[in-house]
This record gives sequence, C-alpha cells and structure tokens, in this order.
Amino acid sequence: MSLRLVAATFALAGMSFNAHANTECDISVDANDMMQFSTKTLSIPATCKEVTLTLNHTGKMPTHSTGHNVVIADTANLQAVAMDGMSAGLENSYVKPNDVRVYAFTNVIGGGESTSVTFSTEKMTQGGDYSFFCSFPGHWAIMQGKFEFK
Ligand code: CU
Repeated sequence: MSLRLVAATFALAGMSFNAHANTECDISVDANDMMQFSTKTLSIPATCKEVTLTLNHTGKMPTHSTGHNVVIADTANLQAVAMDGMSAGLENSYVKPNDVRVYAFTNVIGGGESTSVTFSTEKMTQGGDYSFFCSFPGHWAIMQGKFEFK
C-alpha cells in the first residue's frame, strides 16, 4: 500500500467517524415481506436534538403491493394518523400533507430499498408516549412499536 493510499484511507475513516459521531441518535429498523418490523421498540436518549432514522426493506415485494415506511406520532394519535394517511395515498407517502400530529416520516419503499429521515426532537417530551408505525394501507395494526424518547 502506498503512503498516499494510506493517508487517503485515514482521511476517509476520519470523515465517516465525524458523520456518525452521534451514533445513539442514529437508529434503524428493518421491515420485510411478512409485514414485520425487526424491533418492537426504537429508543433514543432525550439528549438527541436531532435523530436520523433509517428504514431498510429487506424483502422483495414492490412498493405498490407491500411497501413500507416509518411514521412517528403520539401513540394516542396512531390510528387517526394512519386512517388519514391511507386517504392521502402513495404520492404523499400515506401521510396527510402537513399533518402536525406527525413528528417524522420516511418515504414508502419497496423490497431491497433503504430510506432515511433526519428530524428534530424539539416538539417531543422526555418520557412521552410515542409510537412508530407503517402507514401503508392495512399495515399499521401489525407494524407498530414504541418510540422511546428517554
Ligand atoms: Cu408496511
């Protein structure tokens, strides 16, 4: 390995370290063709002012048949947000446009795809009762879990 290549490798490693300095504020979840999330709980410390959430669709089904997204809302609003999202359609990622009940949401993706969203936790309260769910029609009842901000 030439000296120049070694230097370049270290420079790259340094960059990626900086980009992921707040690893506890970076979370990810997988979703599959069986309408399952890989976890029932997503948890971040309340010290995170900004969170990056990544969704990986590990299945093979296309977006229009078994697409998935992640929406974060108060648990008390989950069902209503999901119902309004269904009406909003795929072009709005199954989330009502400008829905103030929604803290964050990702695009709807199909098998083999990944997406992420970075959002502010400014409106969240430490210890609040939040949920994450998939708002693809028919999925929310099964595809949901707790989003902990503690
Ligand atoms: Cu889904």
